[in-house]
Amino acid sequence: MAVWQWLLFFICICVKVTQTEASSWTIDVPSSVKGLLGSCVVIPCSYNYPNAKVQTFTGIWTNDGNQVIYHPTESKMLEQYRRRTKLLGDISKSNCSLMIENLQQNDGGPFHFRIELGGYNSFSYLNKKVSILMIREPNAIDFSAHEDIKEGQPVSASCSVFHSCPTYPPAFHWSHSGEQHFQAQKLHDGQWKATSILTFRSNRTDHNKLLQCRVTYHGGKHQETSKTLKVKYAPVNVKVEYQSDVNEGETAHLKCSSDANPVSSYEWHSETGALLNKGQTYTILIVSRHSVEAVYCTAVNEEGQVRSSTVKLNVLYAPDIRTSSKCSSDWGVLKCECIVESRPPSMVHFVLGDRLQNSSVETNGSVTTGTLQTDFGSFKFVHCLANNTLGNENLTLSLLVNDNMQKIFIVSGTVVILLIILIATGVGVVNKRKENYEDVHSNDICSNDHVYGNVRTKRRVPLKTNV
Ligand SMILES: *[C@@H]1O[C@H](CO)[C@@H](O)[C@H](O)[C@H]1NC(C)=O
Ligand SMILES: *[C@@H]1O[C@H](CO)[C@@H](O)[C@H](O)[C@H]1NC(C)=O
Ligand SMILES: *[C@@H]1O[C@H](CO)[C@@H](O)[C@H](O)[C@H]1NC(C)=O
Ligand SMILES: *[C@@H]1O[C@H](CO)[C@@H](O)[C@H](O)[C@H]1NC(C)=O
Ligand SMILES: *[C@@H]1O[C@H](CO)[C@@H](O)[C@H](O)[C@H]1NC(C)=O
Ligand SMILES: *[C@@H]1O[C@H](CO)[C@@H](O)[C@H](O)[C@H]1NC(C)=O
Repeated sequence: MAVWQWLLFFICICVKVTQTEASSWTIDVPSSVKGLLGSCVVIPCSYNYPNAKVQTFTGIWTNDGNQVIYHPTESKMLEQYRRRTKLLGDISKSNCSLMIENLQQNDGGPFHFRIELGGYNSFSYLNKKVSILMIREPNAIDFSAHEDIKEGQPVSASCSVFHSCPTYPPAFHWSHSGEQHFQAQKLHDGQWKATSILTFRSNRTDHNKLLQCRVTYHGGKHQETSKTLKVKYAPVNVKVEYQSDVNEGETAHLKCSSDANPVSSYEWHSETGALLNKGQTYTILIVSRHSVEAVYCTAVNEEGQVRSSTVKLNVLYAPDIRTSSKCSSDWGVLKCECIVESRPPSMVHFVLGDRLQNSSVETNGSVTTGTLQTDFGSFKFVHCLANNTLGNENLTLSLLVNDNMQKIFIVSGTVVILLIILIATGVGVVNKRKENYEDVHSNDICSNDHVYGNVRTKRRVPLKTNV
């Protein structure tokens, strides 16, 4: 009971105190406000006067020499304050907040407020003066941002400064696009904290880029600060750098590269999946056309692993004429086929006797086939010549005469000889006087040595002979 009564008593006292406060000559203004030179300052102010019937309100600010720095009638103001001072808020609702723009060094004050209430009274609040503490340069920007970010994660950075001009708060400008959020926090003594928060989705393209926050105060003064963004991301652009063309027998160096943060480690695999090597490079000491296989590399870091595309060396080698190359003759037509394996494809020529012959050439991958078709002549040799940028080779081709042809030639030759002998002897019997007869050589072709061994000669290797 007693407690309840005491509580009521206190409430009554409080109400009474605030009532008397609200109805006497009081003012609420800080004793000192910080102001940035060249910028603006707002002096927060609210005043009270005894309860009375008031017709007009005239708010005035003066300095210690009673010189007017603000008056609704501009002509009553000191020259140097005209168009620089302004009452903010509603003077009839106890609001005496003053704004001074383009702060000068000698705007420090102290200043006090005076109210002229039309039809009642006037009062100068001399007991509470305000000074302006001039600041040449603003305080450093308070900047915070996540240091280490993973690609795709949202990043938020905040930039905040103190100021004392809420009418024209500082403007924030960010070097990165994103969603901006502005916060104003009222502190004491006319101080404010302005904060800009930027949020965006991190991207690897942001890695090592500066995130800059620039603050421009009313009046033009500005300052900036920045931080380097560190974005972690899985490897991209994983590729094998290598010289595609390699001469057989030489050494090939393959190097894997990627863009990643943190840096990648590398592994090499054959197309079949077998691990060949660990490390950024892969060396094949002696390249061979038979053992070369398609390979790829994998770049790995803590964010992931990515495969390169598959690559295969293009092994270059001198021509190798296949021993299955051959010539055949059929009904007086000589047909030769020379099959050459090489990289790059070779030029293929035939030499008949001592004449170089054109041939039609067909290339399929590493196999070049030269075909010669010509009238049968009396040739001692048929050579196939093949060359490419790495060397040359020649092969003496065997001539396979069609068995039936040979038989026909032999049979027909024999028949002809027998006939001649018969006729000759018959004619000789009948006509002894005719002593000479012409010897007909119908088997010119057969008299030649048609079958040659495959004599292979190659400049790069010692001469070898396959018969
Ligand atoms: C006075 O007016 C200014 C400007 O309108 C306003 O920001 C401030 O809050 C007002 N003060 C009070 C005590 O109402
Ligand atoms: C990063 O930016 C590029 C181009 O600006 C875009 O194509 C890609 O999708 C972005 N990545 C992420 C994870 O947002
Ligand atoms: C042989 O080939 C060359 C070049 O391809 C051509 O100029 C020439 O006329 C050809 N000769 C014959 C006899 O076909
Ligand atoms: C080329 O050779 C391959 C096999 O070596 C064969 O399958 C293909 O048919 C050939 N192409 C032509 C146009 O001859
Ligand atoms: C092959 O040899 C001929 C004659 O020596 C030359 O003109 C030609 O360029 C050579 N071909 C290649 C592919 O090296
Ligand atoms: C075939 O090769 C041998 C050995 O290099 C060479 O002496 C010869 O002249 C070549 N023959 C032809 C027709 O080029």
